[in-house]
Amino acid sequence: MVVNIDHKPILSKRERILLHVSGLDELFHEGIPVGHSVLVEGGPGSGKTLLCLQVAYEHAKRGKKVLIMSFEEPEEQLREHMAVFGWDTEPLEKKGVLKIKRFSALDISRSVEALLSEAKKELLIDIQPVLIPKDFTPDLVIVDSISAISSAFSGEESRFRIYMEQFFRYMERERASSLLIREVANPTHTGGAYVEHGEAISFLSDGIIVLYNVLYDGGRRGRAVEVLKMRGDDIKRGIYEGEIRRGKGWIVSKKLLSGKQTLT
Ligand SMILES: Nc1ncnc2c1ncn2[C@@H]1O[C@H](COP(=O)(O)OP(=O)(O)OP(=O)(O)O)[C@@H](O)[C@H]1O
Ligand SMILES: [Mg+2]
Repeated sequence: MVVNIDHKPILSKRERILLHVSGLDELFHEGIPVGHSVLVEGGPGSGKTLLCLQVAYEHAKRGKKVLIMSFEEPEEQLREHMAVFGWDTEPLEKKGVLKIKRFSALDISRSVEALLSEAKKELLIDIQPVLIPKDFTPDLVIVDSISAISSAFSGEESRFRIYMEQFFRYMERERASSLLIREVANPTHTGGAYVEHGEAISFLSDGIIVLYNVLYDGGRRGRAVEVLKMRGDDIKRGIYEGEIRRGKGWIVSKKLLSGKQTLT
């Protein structure tokens, strides 16, 4: 195996995943390398949860083991949300390829605190016990949302960063890919100045997908999607029109966003 100077195995081109979302995969040149973490960012109601549920379903349907970690909505609500789109979770959960689990962000921050004081040396903590259920080794992990985790660390930005670094390391070691939902108050990537908690995560993550709420002149609302960053991939840069279609889920069009509009 080829090893780089950090002694990390170099991922071969074949070991990449697609999202299996119509139009979105076309914005990537090669897909997402296995073991990489991608942020899914956007404002309220921009469709972050739905996009991730869709990816989760598509992967579990193909036999990949998917863990949905929800810090916001209860498990049953997520199942119902998926059922509306015709994504039946029951057989997948029975088969053991899909696990939907609600976590408490406060429990996680408390456990991290406890581990840190036990380990004294901050980098020695092993986050696995407070993260992934021991009896499940996922290929894909969805976290909804890291904003909820971040706020449970209330002001302890460095603690949150340590936690996330450990998370990224764990995922890479286990060769599990992840989609991490991050709520942003406004369209952060279009020039507006902002300061937000958890910002360091944007630099630590391997990729960023941004979902936008669009307000067209005249009052019509639309949606848009951008792949802002993907390490090691020649992405199609630009903001593309998208929609959430009843019974289908997210569909990304080939058309760049045009006309008079603002991103909100
Ligand atoms: N059955 C449906 N058909 C079409 N669109 C739907 C359907 N159900 C929900 N939606 C749309 O999906 C959007 C919600 O998406 P989602 O819950 O994924 O957003 P989010 O970005 O996770 O929001 P939040 O920040 O509140 O968590 C809603 O704005 C709604 O308009
Ligand atoms: Mg959501």
